[in-house]
Amino acid sequence: MAGKGTFYITTPIYYPSNKLHIGNAYTTVVADAIARFKRATGYEVWFLTGTDEHGQKIAREAAAAGKKPQEFVDEIVTWIKELWKELDISYDDFIRTTEPRHYEKVQQIFTRFYEQGDIYKGKYEGWYCTPCEAYWQERELKDKKCPDCGRPVELIAEEAYFFRMSRYADRLLEHIESHPEFILPPSRKNEMINNFLRPGLEDLCVTRTSFDWGIPVPFDPKHVIYVWVDALSNYITALDYGEAGSDKMARFWPADVHLIGKDILRFHTIYWPIFLMALGLPLPRTVFGHGWLLLQEGKMSKSKGNVVDPMLLSKRYGSDAVRYFLLREIPMGQDGVYSLEALIKRINTDLANDLGNLVSRTLTMVERYFDGVLPAPAPSGEESDADLRELALQTPVLMERRMDELKVHEALADLWALVRRSNKYIDQNTPWELARDPAKRERLGTVLYNLVESIRFIGVMLEPFMPRTPAKIWAQIGLQEDAGARDWDSLRQWGRMKPGTAIRRGEDLFPRLNLGWELHRAAGEQKAPREEAKGQAARESAAPADESGLITIDQFSQVDLRAATIVEAAAVPGADKLLQLTVDLGAEGRRQVVAGIARYYRPEELIGRQVLYVANLKPVKLRGVLSQGMILAAEDDQGRLALTTLDRPLAPGSKVR
Ligand code: MSP
Repeated sequence: MAGKGTFYITTPIYYPSNKLHIGNAYTTVVADAIARFKRATGYEVWFLTGTDEHGQKIAREAAAAGKKPQEFVDEIVTWIKELWKELDISYDDFIRTTEPRHYEKVQQIFTRFYEQGDIYKGKYEGWYCTPCEAYWQERELKDKKCPDCGRPVELIAEEAYFFRMSRYADRLLEHIESHPEFILPPSRKNEMINNFLRPGLEDLCVTRTSFDWGIPVPFDPKHVIYVWVDALSNYITALDYGEAGSDKMARFWPADVHLIGKDILRFHTIYWPIFLMALGLPLPRTVFGHGWLLLQEGKMSKSKGNVVDPMLLSKRYGSDAVRYFLLREIPMGQDGVYSLEALIKRINTDLANDLGNLVSRTLTMVERYFDGVLPAPAPSGEESDADLRELALQTPVLMERRMDELKVHEALADLWALVRRSNKYIDQNTPWELARDPAKRERLGTVLYNLVESIRFIGVMLEPFMPRTPAKIWAQIGLQEDAGARDWDSLRQWGRMKPGTAIRRGEDLFPRLNLGWELHRAAGEQKAPREEAKGQAARESAAPADESGLITIDQFSQVDLRAATIVEAAAVPGADKLLQLTVDLGAEGRRQVVAGIARYYRPEELIGRQVLYVANLKPVKLRGVLSQGMILAAEDDQGRLALTTLDRPLAPGSKVR
């Protein structure tokens, strides 16, 4: 593919003070999808991530853990790298601010600022938020707390160096106003101008003396450099800034996109450009402040103990599924909500029903009707053929446009329009009916050929978002050896699949999950988050021992199944999928059950029904409501659900055998 130039994208560098949560993973997964997309479409990409290891926050966390700061961060950085591997993050460089290549350059930068008169020595007296590593003025505090994170601030008074921000404020304002792409989404631009630039920039305190976990000021080593000056510089120190023998700065600077969360926009659109101006460097093209990933009950936080572990989710549901969820569910720039229900729903509808079914239905038919050999298409004037082909050819063009605007969720929506259009094509052309009439064999071949070709298009376009799934598709449609039919350029031409290719339907790409079971499992884990390892062992021992996947009658009889009568039913406040039921078990009394069936049944229509009930499941809390056991229901591929009711009345509590 013809080179289109370079593309430099960065994520924030993370504080290695805790393991990262799903919100942090969101930033990096989005950056990865953009980086992969740009590579696929012909750019020379540099994708940078890393860790921000200095500062008071880390020093305190390390002390609390009884470790030396370096030892403390090393362990977490190892875990972070494992997480990125698990999530297929294709970074080109991972910078750690404790590495000499960074450390030494930051000292040079600081010295240059000092020598050119941007920095002077004084005394800082004011407020500091350690979790945010941010200085605040009295008037900026909200209820005497940090206006960003709402946590308590500390009053500090220490000798310090200051950066003359006001020197550059007018130039920055002019730049922001004349470069509409500099701060995105556009709504955030006014926030920065009105809240920070217009009121006038105060000089920024850029050193600390009350702790030593940082980069010392070379000419006054009792001062350590303010962690944000240290951290922001990573975007150029990682490109060997100031090193004569390297061409990375020339090739990749200015950055095309700094992708960050909206909470750190001020540092990236005010401090960072001013430091760059002071260094005489051009400013990044875009700083994109994405929204927050929230939980239904609000923010994720370690103190609330409600953080969602991306490693666990990825190991359980697969990294492609987790990536798809993050990229599709959260509109770029806006806040989004994570819930296990939403994740399972995306897996079941978009991945299992739409994509998985398209592949399995199509390939099953090629196997059944053409012995697994791809038939040749015949020329056709059918409207549905032209529609499918046109949409397939347009989709990559549309997606490129969306990705240029960083609308990642919309690019995926475009791709899914093709997936759904292909499923509709099956329903329109009903190949199973064509197969009944020998005179329609040629048409049947054309329909199946078009479907496989569409699957090829989808596989190519999927790669930046879900890097593992395409390989599974290539193996099934016989494209492992044909790299030319798997690259972005091949999407300019409809009809690259070679008739005669051996097609072999494999395992389903995304097996459907049972929401009730997944909720139950997650609720069980929440009770003892630290016992994850034990939970894993228990799950393994509970799994059928036999490799055939069959269980014995003894294993089955461990499940205490009963006929139970529903006597009360009500909605669970704040959970639109759940109902709270009371079931009667006769002599054994009544039990309370939370069931994920609110979308299928109204509470009043359940009263009096007898259903099958698992009586010996460990109780769990779902949305704070106790659930003792589970009622059984079946769900089909169309997302329909039916309760297992009894076909004649029995005494409540009767055993099922
Ligand atoms: N170390 C600084 C960044 C320095 S960049 C020169 C930092 N680190 S962080 O680990 O606290 O946060 C890293 C990123 O995670 C930020 O972009 C932040 O916005 C993002 N997120 C933290 N919680 C988040 C959510 N709940 N949802 C989405 N992003 C979130 O800040």
